[in-house]
Amino acid sequence: MTSLKLSGFLALSIYVCTALAAKQGKACTGTISSMDDVSSAVECTTVNINSFTVPAGETFLLELADSTTVNVQGDVSFGNKTWAGPLFQVKGDSVTFNGNGHTFNGNGPFYWDGQGGNGGVTKPAPMMKIEISGTYTNVKVLNSPARVYSVSNPATLVMSQLTIDDSLGDQPNSKSDGKAAGHNTDGFDVSTTDLTIEDSTIMNQDDCLAINKGSNIVFQRNTCSGGHGISIGSISSDAVVSGVVISGNTITNNDQALRIKTKASATDASVSNVTYSGNTGTGLRQFGVLIDQSYPDTLGTPGTGVQVSGINFVGSTTTLSVDSDAQRVAVNCGEGACTGTWDWSALKVSGGEAGDITNFDGIQGFTQ
Ligand SMILES: *[C@@H]1O[C@H](CO)[C@@H](O)[C@H](O)[C@H]1NC(C)=O
Ligand SMILES: *[C@@H]1O[C@H](CO)[C@@H](O)[C@H](O)[C@H]1NC(C)=O
Repeated sequence: MTSLKLSGFLALSIYVCTALAAKQGKACTGTISSMDDVSSAVECTTVNINSFTVPAGETFLLELADSTTVNVQGDVSFGNKTWAGPLFQVKGDSVTFNGNGHTFNGNGPFYWDGQGGNGGVTKPAPMMKIEISGTYTNVKVLNSPARVYSVSNPATLVMSQLTIDDSLGDQPNSKSDGKAAGHNTDGFDVSTTDLTIEDSTIMNQDDCLAINKGSNIVFQRNTCSGGHGISIGSISSDAVVSGVVISGNTITNNDQALRIKTKASATDASVSNVTYSGNTGTGLRQFGVLIDQSYPDTLGTPGTGVQVSGINFVGSTTTLSVDSDAQRVAVNCGEGACTGTWDWSALKVSGGEAGDITNFDGIQGFTQ
């Protein structure tokens, strides 16, 4: 009886310790040159990745010990198979992930059919699932099948000097019916807190960044080309976004530069405290700035279930230039859903025509 109790207690305390304590690694270097090497390599606090091809239909999953340093030392390619993915997934606390400029090749042309996640073949998405804290730098992603990064960091994470090159997807192929073959190739899908993404280049066919919920998110000094711009949303029921800084980014040849989109059907949600400064946009095809509560429609009947407040253009001027048939700024609020005063004194938009500002008169320091 006593010994049973004791062993039960021991088992429980081991369980509690394992659950609470850090995942301790060994002071060794593990090298990965194939999937067979992964399980032993991740016991070490230095993990080197050589060039290899991940077999089709498998996730290259790294469950790292605390404070592991990862060095990518060769290009990684992923086999071709129509399945849900992800292709790569990394988990761990206080990780230093050095891509050293190497490429993760998703072989997008195998999947691309102009339909992304809306139809056609099943595409691995996201391609890259990032669940670490620490730093993640200098990784190149080439030709993602569909969405690229999904980020849910357990604590503060800085992602920097990344390249996403899906530019080949701008071209039609034999399956895309004359449309761009790449579709839904979102750069970063983010539902998280304490995340910075900086000094990165994103060439794609959908949102450069999409923030679905979360707080303390910084997106700075990035270059976005070809896609749908820097987005907050689409916001669903119960989602809260607050404390977002979008600064010093360059947005070229996108549908719009800066957008907040909330679902017309969403309830009990909010977007607040968003600061835009020092962004530059050119070749904007539809809008300079679009704030629209009628998603999935564009400038349709807006919903009233998402409170939007504290959307400011301050600090360095954000300068946008839109195409001749585009709208400079359009704001489509549900009645009573956009509130407070918004300081837009550091926004300049040229070209095109003025859009409508509907159901809101709190914008100050800006006329179009
Ligand atoms: C996978 O698809 C890509 C893109 O279509 C192609 O270049 C590559 O050769 C394919 N790989 C294999 C192993 O078939
Ligand atoms: C607004 O967001 C910024 C950046 O995340 C943060 O520093 C600031 O405290 C927030 N302000 C309020 C009133 O929440």
